[in-house]
Amino acid sequence: MTNDVLRVHGGLPLHGEIRVRGAKNLVSKAMVATLLGESPSILYDVPRIRDVDVVRGLLELHGVKISDGPDGEIIFDPANVESAGVDEINVHAGSSRIPILLCGPLLHRLGHAFIPDLGGCHIGDRPIDFHLEALRQFGAIVDKTPEGLHLTAPNGLHGTKFQLPYPSVGATEQVLLTAVRAQGVTELRNAAVEPEIIDLICALQKMGAIIKVSTDRVIEIEGVPTLRGYSHRPIPDRLEAASWACAALVTHGDITVRGARQVDMMTFLNVFSSIGGAFEVDDSPGGGIRFWHPGGDLRAVALETDVHPGFMTDWQQPLVVALTQAQGLSIVHETVYERRLGYTSALNSMGATIQVYRECLGGTPCRFGRRNFEHSAVIAGPSKLHAADLVIPDLRGGFSHLIAALAAEGTSHVYGVDLINRGYEDFEKKLAALGANAVRT
Ligand code: EPZ
Repeated sequence: MTNDVLRVHGGLPLHGEIRVRGAKNLVSKAMVATLLGESPSILYDVPRIRDVDVVRGLLELHGVKISDGPDGEIIFDPANVESAGVDEINVHAGSSRIPILLCGPLLHRLGHAFIPDLGGCHIGDRPIDFHLEALRQFGAIVDKTPEGLHLTAPNGLHGTKFQLPYPSVGATEQVLLTAVRAQGVTELRNAAVEPEIIDLICALQKMGAIIKVSTDRVIEIEGVPTLRGYSHRPIPDRLEAASWACAALVTHGDITVRGARQVDMMTFLNVFSSIGGAFEVDDSPGGGIRFWHPGGDLRAVALETDVHPGFMTDWQQPLVVALTQAQGLSIVHETVYERRLGYTSALNSMGATIQVYRECLGGTPCRFGRRNFEHSAVIAGPSKLHAADLVIPDLRGGFSHLIAALAAEGTSHVYGVDLINRGYEDFEKKLAALGANAVRT
C-alpha cells in the first residue's frame, strides 16, 4: 500500500511535455450513455483516473460487459443490462456525483433505478433538486429513503418542457440522457452548454438521438424508441490542461500540454495572456499548447467564474496560485459554487496574502451575495511562498496546493494526494517528467 503523502522540494521550474487525454467531465457521462444503446459503444483515449473506475464499477454492476483495448480504448457491451442489489450499489455511495446520471438510462432499460447517496468534492451544498424535478416532469416517481433514491416510471417517460433555474451541467446532462429515449419532444431552457455537454450531444447523436442546440441556451430533444452504440473520441481535458498551464506560470517554467485545444480554452487563454503568461498553439495533429513564463512581473486581474463561455470554476484554483505571484491586487469572484475558496487558507499559511469576502466583489452580483458565503477573494501579490504541510481538501483545490508547494522555497508535505488521482491521470509520473522533485514519503 502506498503512503498518501508527497514530499515536495519546491523552487524548481517545471519544464517539458505532458499529454492530456479525454475530458474527465465528458468521459464519465459518455460511459453512462452506453447504457442507452442496443449495441456496444467504444470510447477512445479514456484517462486512467478514479472517477472512471467508479462509473465502470457501477456499469459492471448493472450487467454492462466492459473490456479494454489499447491506449485508453474501452468497449462497453450493454446487451444484458440488469438490476443490481442495493448493497452492491451502496459500495459506491459517496465516491462520485455521477450515479445520479444513471436515473434516466436505468428507467428506460429496467423501469426502475436505485441511486446511492452522492459524493464528489465538498465545494458547496451540491443539491440535486433540479435533477429530481426534471425526472418527475418526465414521469418518474422518486422515493427518497435514508439509503438513497428509488425511482420508478410506471407509465414510461414522456417528453416535457423544462426550464432550469440555473444552467447546471449535471442537470442538463440528466435531461439529455433521459429525453433521448422518452416518448415525444423535450424542450430544455436555460441549459448548460459547456464543451463537454456539446461533446456528449455528439456521442448521443452518433447513437441515433435527435438533439437540436438552439441559441439562448435552448436544447430540443426528439425522443426515439431505440439507440445504437457509439464510437467516440472525447474532447481533451481542458481543466487538466489549464492546471498545468498555471503550474508552468507559477514555477517560472515551460510546459507543453499535448492534446490541449485552443477552442475549448479561449476564455482561459485570454486571462493567461492578460496576467503576463505566454502561450503558443500547435494545431497540427498530435499538437497542443505550450505555456510558459516569459520573465518579468505578472499582472493582477479581476475576474469572475461563470458557466460557459465564462471563466470556468475549475480553472479558478490553480490560477489563484499564479495570482499570488502577480504585481498588485487581483479580485476573484466565484459565482458557480458557494464554498470554493476554502483552499486559500493553506496558501496564506505558505506566505500568500489572500482575503476572502462574503460580498460579490468586482461588479456583478451573484446568487451567493445575500447568503453569507465567502465567495470573493482579493489576492495581494507578489508573495514569496514558503514550504508548509498541506492537507488536500478537494480535487482542484488539491492540485493548487500541489503547485504552490512546487513553487515554494523549501520542503512541503502534501497529505491526501490520492484524491488528485480522481481527475488527473498519472500526475506523479507527469511531475517527474517535468523535472519536479516530488516523492512519496
Ligand atoms: C460539473 O459538476 C463538474 N463535475 C464540476 O467539476 C464543475 O465544476 C461543474 O460541473 C461546473 O462546470 C462533473 O462534471 C462530474 P452543476 P455539476 O450542476 O454538474 C447548483 C471537477 O473538479 N445546482 O453545474 O455537479 C450547484 O449547487 C468538478 O471536475 C443546484 O442548485 O455542477 C452549483 O452551485 C467539481 N441544484 C451550480 O448549480 C441542482 O440540482 C452548478 O452545478 C444541481 C446543481
